[in-house]
Amino acid sequence: MLAARTEAPSDPMTEARRVVENWRRLHDGHGYFDNHARYQDPLHDLGVARVRDMLRPTEADTVLEIGCGYGRLLYHLLPEVSGVVGIDLAPEPLTKAEELLTTRKRDEQRVSLVLGDGISLDALEGGCASAAVAFTVFQHMPKVAVGRYLEDLRRILTPGGRVCFQVADDGTPEHYGRDICADLPKEQATRWSVAGICAVVEAAGLTVQRVDRECLEHTYPGRGMSWIWVLATV
Ligand SMILES: C[S@@+](CC[C@H](N)C(=O)[O-])C[C@H]1O[C@@H](n2cnc3c(N)ncnc32)[C@H](O)[C@@H]1O
Repeated sequence: MLAARTEAPSDPMTEARRVVENWRRLHDGHGYFDNHARYQDPLHDLGVARVRDMLRPTEADTVLEIGCGYGRLLYHLLPEVSGVVGIDLAPEPLTKAEELLTTRKRDEQRVSLVLGDGISLDALEGGCASAAVAFTVFQHMPKVAVGRYLEDLRRILTPGGRVCFQVADDGTPEHYGRDICADLPKEQATRWSVAGICAVVEAAGLTVQRVDRECLEHTYPGRGMSWIWVLATV
């Protein structure tokens, strides 16, 4: 008689690691940013106004961006704060971000670009930032990975620190965007309800302060996309 086949329980982070490897391949030879020109252009202001409105950055702040890419968003915030820290999962965007931010930095400002593992903030020192942002990043990773990043933010942010981020909401199609490379999956769009994302924020030990919805018909006509923005504090 054949023994019943037992499946080993799967590590919930396995899918998150697979998505990280996919992103690294998108950067390495598949020209992710060449196909997404707006994130290459430091003057493109997608998301900047809402991040400013939610985080209210001041000269006392060091702002961390998770998934900083070419440093576009930090480029906008740098003149208002005392320093910026960018983390991303691949070296290529970090090199570009360093070039860009160095041109704008004042002498006394701190600009730090850090290569992360794509699933945690282990590469960063505790208390290294007072505010954090993740823009068009959390929407591209599995829910468990978002929860891990939010948990890590409790260690990274100074007391009273705040984080704002956006995710794709329930109405957004599961996959969208260009088929950048035939042998790679399209960018994933993990979809959230307001209650779902707020529960993960609170489970990470952060406190939800504000939730906004943004309809993206003006930015991505006909794609049926909308975003949920969250502001939370430590
Ligand atoms: C659409 S780009 C946005 C870049 C930047 N936030 C901006 O608004 O200009 C997404 C960036 O997030 C990074 N990314 C994707 N998944 C990530 C993860 N799990 N951890 C850290 N960075 C990630 C990508 O490498 C890429 O640079």
